[in-house]
Formats: sequence, structure tokens, C-alpha cells
Amino acid sequence: MTIPGTHLEPERSIRGKKILRATPNQAETLTQIAFAAKRHWGYPERWIQIWSPLLTISPEFIATHDTYVAYMDGEPVGVCALSVEKEKASVEHLWVLPDFMGQGIGAALFRQMLSRCKYMEMRILEIESDPNAQGFYERMGAKVVGEHVGEVDGQPRILPVLEIVLIC
Ligand SMILES: CC(C)(COP(=O)(O)OP(=O)(O)OC[C@H]1O[C@@H](n2cnc3c(N)ncnc32)[C@H](O)[C@@H]1OP(=O)(O)O)[C@@H](O)C(=O)NCCC(=O)NCCS
Repeated sequence: MTIPGTHLEPERSIRGKKILRATPNQAETLTQIAFAAKRHWGYPERWIQIWSPLLTISPEFIATHDTYVAYMDGEPVGVCALSVEKEKASVEHLWVLPDFMGQGIGAALFRQMLSRCKYMEMRILEIESDPNAQGFYERMGAKVVGEHVGEVDGQPRILPVLEIVLIC
């Protein structure tokens, strides 16, 4: 479908950096972004396959969660998503395509989640972070409040848990 009065596909009409709500038909594209972003840290491909369910963003997920896409000149380059339980929101996804990292896209997506949390009057935004992304979340104002001890491929894996308190 083109935008009325133009010959442009909707996404192509986007200039510069823009964040919009995701639609279920973007599930495959957003999943590809998640896989590419996670691979950026150089994890063994075996681990990436083990994490496949965590990296897959389904149409059903998008339909039932606050999910946003970051565009750069019309191209989807990042995605974030929240889940909500009572007064606590959690970051379910935050992924930026490697070629577009370091350009403020992750920060823009994070600010979008923060403003959504404030609109929904959430008390806390929680993040179970990839260890490589901890510094990013701290830069965004989150504080480490604990850790989650799990395992991958028979090896222990400790993930920092961070929080931002939104309403005291
Ligand atoms: C983490 C991630 C989302 C950051 O996105 P980004 O677009 O590269 O980040 P930005 O350019 O918006 O950076 C914002 C600020 O955070 C800093 N920053 C970004 N990544 C960082 C990192 N990994 N460690 C420490 N600081 C970081 C930047 O230097 C910048 O600081 P500044 O404001 O002083 O300039 C992105 O690197 C990514 O998708 N990584 C792979 C997937 C992943 O681990 N996602 C998180 C899952 S929990």
C-alpha cells in the first residue's frame, strides 16, 4: 500500500532516524535483526542456535507486546520490546544491526521504552542484560541490582540484572 498522494511505500517515506510501533508482518525482519545483533558479540554459533527461541520475534509476540522498530532512512535497523507485569516492565528485546551500532539508535529505542513505561505508570523497568551490553544500560541510567545465574551448552552463564526506578 502506498501513502496517499505519493508513490512511496510507507517505510521508504521515512527520512533519517525514526521509531514506530512494529506490526506483526515484520516478525521475520525483526528476528533477523535480533540474530545479527546477538552474533555481533562473537558467541559460538551453537549458542546462537540454543538461544534461537529467545531471539525469535513472532507475529503473536508483536501483537501482544509493546514492540518498536527503529528505521534509518526507511530501513528497519533496530527493535525493542517490553513485557509488563503489574507495576514492573521488562526489556524483552533490544537489538541494533551491527552496521548501525554506535549511532544513537539503541539509546533512542531505550528512550522510547522509558517513555512508554512512564505513560503506563510503571514503577520499575528491569533488564536482564547480555554482559556485553551492561555498560550501555548503565549509560542509559540503569543500576545493577543482581544477577541471573543460568547455563548455556553446559557452561555457567551469569547475566547482570539492572533496574531503573521510574516512580518512587
Ligand atoms: C547494546 C546495543 C543495543 C546498543 O545500541 P547502540 O545503537 O550501539 O547504542 P548507542 O549508539 O545508542 O549508544 C548510546 C550510548 O551507550 C554507549 N554504549 C553503547 N553500547 C555500549 C556497550 N556495549 N558498552 C558500554 N557503552 C555502550 C555509547 O557509547 C553511547 O554513549 P554516549 O551517549 O556517551 O555516546 C547494541 O550494541 C546491540 O544491539 N548489541 C547487541 C545485542 C545486545 O546485546 N542487545 C542487548 C540485549 S540485553
